[in-house]
Amino acid sequence: MKVLSLGGAGFIGSHLTARLLQEGHTVTVVDQENDKIQEWLSLDRLKVVKEDIRRPDWGLVELVQDANVVIDLIAYANPSLYIKMPMEVFRLNFNENLKIAEACVKLKKRLIQFSTCEVYGKTPASFLNGYLANPGDSMHATFSEDTTNLIMGPVGKHRWIYASAKQLLERVLHAYGLEGHLNYTIIRPFNFIGPKIDYLPSEKEGIPRVFSNFLQALMNGSPMYLVDGGHHQRAYTFIDDAVDCIMRIIENRDAVCEKQIFNIGSPANEISVRELAVKMRDIYKRRWWDGVSPLPEIVNISAKDFYGVGYDDSDRRIPDITKATMLLGWRPRLNLDDTIENSMEYWFERQEHEIPLKDAALR
Ligand code: UGA
Repeated sequence: MKVLSLGGAGFIGSHLTARLLQEGHTVTVVDQENDKIQEWLSLDRLKVVKEDIRRPDWGLVELVQDANVVIDLIAYANPSLYIKMPMEVFRLNFNENLKIAEACVKLKKRLIQFSTCEVYGKTPASFLNGYLANPGDSMHATFSEDTTNLIMGPVGKHRWIYASAKQLLERVLHAYGLEGHLNYTIIRPFNFIGPKIDYLPSEKEGIPRVFSNFLQALMNGSPMYLVDGGHHQRAYTFIDDAVDCIMRIIENRDAVCEKQIFNIGSPANEISVRELAVKMRDIYKRRWWDGVSPLPEIVNISAKDFYGVGYDDSDRRIPDITKATMLLGWRPRLNLDDTIENSMEYWFERQEHEIPLKDAALR
């Protein structure tokens, strides 16, 4: 199969590109960087187009024309950016992604669109607390693709511009599908982690996501910050499990994925951010600590001090993966401890055996 993978050298994209190449497919990756797919660059079946898709007339139509399937992974998916540059987040995540969808409509190509679990927003328990019999029951935080209502915060909390842009894009794809003009599948990833996850805070990228922040704190002995006490919960999925599911979606046996939305996640791997900090520090202490370097303190911080004005949060989100199990025969295999430890291992083993910490951190 000839696959066009837009954003195919990012965290999820690089793992997917590797699997596609291993399974004999031909892949064209469009991305601004290619560091994460270095080991594949000499392969004839891989073509890399280093490009910023916001540049006018950069050649999208020709590449879509040439592909059997188009995968769109391009997004700003980092909450600190939703606060710092909300318009740019909207432009990239909606306007530019819409152009890709429209090219697929025009050229009648199958589109696999990456969206986000963040479209579900908040749980009913977050605002109906006093009225729910069991607010902590996981059923109030278990989200299903085709039945769960999507609950965003107020406009002034501009974190939600990201989720709203992604939600609107999903709705546009659905509408194109209703008109019979688009064969699409939407994927909602639930907190994938693993090797090559976006990394250290930097001037360019801003504050990364929590796993990377905690990893850096462990490497430097600097504090692990818990935003608003770290009581929010996430379900973490190991990237290899996620890629197994994505490959089944690409394969699309018996066309079961047509006009479908799929959650991809590990419902059993739920943990609060505070527990994540403690667990990562414990694993670090057991596996890699030299016994003398300072271990990070776990410190509370307000969302305003950490991210700035306009931050808000999803309190809890657990994927209902019934659809992926029924239609694709997929289930995640890694439990929470292995998911976290395998993801950490890459960075610490790499540090010991390959390249100096400072260089590793900058990738
Ligand atoms: C982000 C994106 O917004 C989603 O689109 C994406 O699907 C998701 O990551 C993902 O990885 O799949 P989120 O889970 O909120 O969503 O991202 P994080 O920045 O990792 O935040 C998780 C929680 O940790 C939040 O409650 C945040 O406030 C908290 N946090 C973050 C800390 O307590 N400390 C930190 O250093 C960073």
